Amino acid sequence: MRYLITSALPYANGPKHIGHLAGAYLPADIFTRYVKAQGHDVAFVCGSDEHGAAITIQALKEKTTPKEIVDKYHELLKTCFDKFNIDFDIYHRTSDPLHHATAQDFFTNLNEKGVFQIDESEQYYDAEAKLFLADRYIQGTCPNCSYEGAYGDQCEHCGKSLSPKDLINPVSTLSGNKPTLKATKHWSLPLNQYEAFLQEWIIKDKKDKWRNTVYGQCKSWIDGGLQPRAVTRDLNWGVKVPLKEAEGKVLYVWFDAPIGYISATKAWAEKNNKNWKDYWCHSETKLVHFIGKDNIVFHCIIFPVMLHAHGEFILPDQVPANEFLNLEGDKMSTSRGWSIEMHEFLEAFPDKTDELRYYLTAIAPETKDADFTWKGFQTANKSELVDILGNYINRIVMLTHKFYGGVVPLPGEAGEAEKNILFDINAQTKKVHSLIEQYKFREAQFELMNLARAGNKYLADAEPWKLIKTDEIHTKTVMYTGLQVAEQLAQLMRYFMPLKAEMLAGMLNLNRHLNLTPGHQINDAQYLFKPIEDELIEAQIQKLKQRVEAKNETITPVHKPLKPEITIDEFNKIDLRAGTIIEAKKVEKADKLLQLTIDLGFEIRTVLSGIALHYKPEDIIGLQVTVVANLAPRKMRGIDSYGMILMAEDENGKLVFVNPKEAIGNGSNIK
Ligand code: 2FM
Ligand code: ZN
Repeated sequence: MRYLITSALPYANGPKHIGHLAGAYLPADIFTRYVKAQGHDVAFVCGSDEHGAAITIQALKEKTTPKEIVDKYHELLKTCFDKFNIDFDIYHRTSDPLHHATAQDFFTNLNEKGVFQIDESEQYYDAEAKLFLADRYIQGTCPNCSYEGAYGDQCEHCGKSLSPKDLINPVSTLSGNKPTLKATKHWSLPLNQYEAFLQEWIIKDKKDKWRNTVYGQCKSWIDGGLQPRAVTRDLNWGVKVPLKEAEGKVLYVWFDAPIGYISATKAWAEKNNKNWKDYWCHSETKLVHFIGKDNIVFHCIIFPVMLHAHGEFILPDQVPANEFLNLEGDKMSTSRGWSIEMHEFLEAFPDKTDELRYYLTAIAPETKDADFTWKGFQTANKSELVDILGNYINRIVMLTHKFYGGVVPLPGEAGEAEKNILFDINAQTKKVHSLIEQYKFREAQFELMNLARAGNKYLADAEPWKLIKTDEIHTKTVMYTGLQVAEQLAQLMRYFMPLKAEMLAGMLNLNRHLNLTPGHQINDAQYLFKPIEDELIEAQIQKLKQRVEAKNETITPVHKPLKPEITIDEFNKIDLRAGTIIEAKKVEKADKLLQLTIDLGFEIRTVLSGIALHYKPEDIIGLQVTVVANLAPRKMRGIDSYGMILMAEDENGKLVFVNPKEAIGNGSNIK
């Protein structure tokens, strides 16, 4: 069997945290090590994703160029993956000329087939910077929550996803000027034309094959109806669109990034005397994408549509996307400081990479979000690695030296207990293999530990330290059998904890030609694992807390600055009235909006209000509220809203109604 295994190309715009490691890199590495050990023909590819606004914005923040940013973070990421022994066959980069050429060829191929539709639309343009503005380069007031620093793609205050034209008072972050609308042309992939293909390929075929979470997300995208997606952007950083009439345009980063898997394979094949097409164009090759759940739509829908439209490529066999890893009960976030970056862990615990690999696999977010805690890491290390696995190895190796000078003894006849443990070696190995083949790495590692548990029990029951005094032959049988368990543990550990597996193999003096047959000499015992001291763990917890507090102080001002002064006449222009909510319901496809029907005494009105995340419709019916009654009507989600409800908001975004303290007639003036 041939495999092409990929891990999501991380953006080279900053360090990546251990949640990324657990999501897309570690499981891919375990799987790759396993399929390689089975003798399959495998290429495991990854690289830095070096295009898109994520990079140019980081360059602005660090007051440098995109090139410097990607060079710096590409090196950091590559080094971190190396130190965690993520054994990519190649770690490429999308700024490589080979990638630019590959992505351009792909675009040209689709363009010549007439796959794209060309749309002309008006987009924001910064006349001073002479640039069309990527969504992230436009800021303005959120139409949903009135936050003044909302971005053109999302309001980070209320979380609403936006398009630049939704912003009130948009401003270009490049020049500070008001952007103008200017016509521009873009090439789009008409995903809507591929619904039949996706129905056939995913909905019919993948239900029992892909993880529920992955299949479920795909189904809901497809059921929701797919729209054409622009694959070009007006930007000066990225892969140039290979057409004369597309001067100044680049490929959208999500168009070129997955093609990065193909370029990486080509670069690897060139160096290793392989044919890249064997891995991408051969129906017997299995393509497996390891990613986090935020990348599902790109790997299960958009990239497969691109591959299908091209026609020469295989489609992914599996996309074992992981859910998210939280940290101490809260969402991991580099920008908030609530994260453990890979390089930070390596600085604090340079010799504990396998221990982290073990813990991240033991809590892997395969079916639901998981929680990393420092105490959990310390406990898993002590009560599982030290007390179960390490303890077993230590006992068997020490006793072999004590009894036989480190030479594997010739066993006598196996009794019932020996037959059982030899059966366990076989059965546990099969379980570990089969679980890895099903992408269930957490359970697979658990079964490896069960073999160590069985080994401990076998030794505890047989008591060779006592037996040696009464029955030398049977002691030899026990020790020989116990060493077979150790050997198999070393084999299975290779997938999960490569350094410790190597250390154990060294202790047992195993190499390709030698195994633990009678007469084989083993080496001295060393501790495989050691407990982690409380102070080290406490220091990490403190560091995390202090960092997030320090960031909070700078992010959230204690008082919002006051708006400019107004006169009483200006205030009196606002007509505030008491009204009662008589009906409330959710607005379809708008997470935050409620549609309210308000009795103002003199009339009944519809008012839309962005409170759906704070209040359930059924809980607010009958409530008297304050209405801005002379606000010009506004249309949102196709519904006209006549007025606004007053709400008070604290610094955490909590909303409460501002209402008359006692019931008063609807329509009463509030002044
Ligand atoms: O989400 C991300 O970090 C993207 N850079 C992943 C890209 S995966 C692939 F398509 F290259
Ligand atoms: Zn908002």
